[in-house]
Amino acid sequence: MAVITGAARGIGAATAIRLADDGHRVAVVDLDARDCAGTVDAIAARGGKALAVGADVSDEDSVAAAFEAVVTGLGEPTILVNNAGIIRDNLLFKLSTPDWDAVLGVHLRGSFLMSRAAQGYMTRNGFGRIVNLSSTSALGNRGQANYSAAKAGLQGFTKTLAIELGRFGVTVNAVAPGFIQTDMTAATAQRVGLSFEDFIASAAAQIPVARVGRPQDVAHAVSFLVSEGAGFVSGQILYLAGGPAG
Ligand code: NAI
Repeated sequence: MAVITGAARGIGAATAIRLADDGHRVAVVDLDARDCAGTVDAIAARGGKALAVGADVSDEDSVAAAFEAVVTGLGEPTILVNNAGIIRDNLLFKLSTPDWDAVLGVHLRGSFLMSRAAQGYMTRNGFGRIVNLSSTSALGNRGQANYSAAKAGLQGFTKTLAIELGRFGVTVNAVAPGFIQTDMTAATAQRVGLSFEDFIASAAAQIPVARVGRPQDVAHAVSFLVSEGAGFVSGQILYLAGGPAG
């Protein structure tokens, strides 16, 4: 069964639905279990099985409770997608310490806590797939010192877990999307004072395939990386940017 964090909306929701279509039972994890209903209902309507789990991935006790609920409700996890994320963008001289800590906390600490909890089941069963959400921002992005550091940090985290867990049948990879059309990029449009439509059009003009990404584009790549057949792919960072970024 698959655990997807931040799966109430956006990339996480699309990934949860895709992995359910692939035949996995799915734990839909997000801050508030009630927000997960849309994803859970979409999976049920397609004949899949999903469970809503409320958890803050940056909180150790909350992560422990989430795994208890997941294992009781759906069984032991074989797949973990560390997708939960937030942005708190600002130029360095205006970037507050709480905004630094919050972003590092959700992306890095959250992926660490979730992966550490999941690996116990995976290594014991001799099979596991972990996918972390990095970003093209890992290469540097104005106004995102905190987010860029977290997304670059996740790449080192991914490679190290791949080295440590490989002998137990567990692969660990990252996807690094460019512009994907979600609430997160809608919030960025608002911050820079553009309508979402204009923001999308200007982003698409810079992308070789001449469009922005959809959550399903990321879900498709995750579906491959967590498949049984991808067992010789580990420690990789797959850029999903409609071109050679990264
Ligand atoms: P989104 O903002 O639409 O969804 C993120 C979800 O994570 C929300 O449902 C939110 O409630 C949840 N979340 C936030 N903090 C949490 C916490 N502490 N515990 C549990 N859940 C939490 O974002 P989107 O766009 O779907 O992004 C998903 C992931 O993909 C993020 O890690 C993001 O950084 C990454 N990404 C997104 C890109 C984009 O262009 N949208 C590009 C590259 C990476």
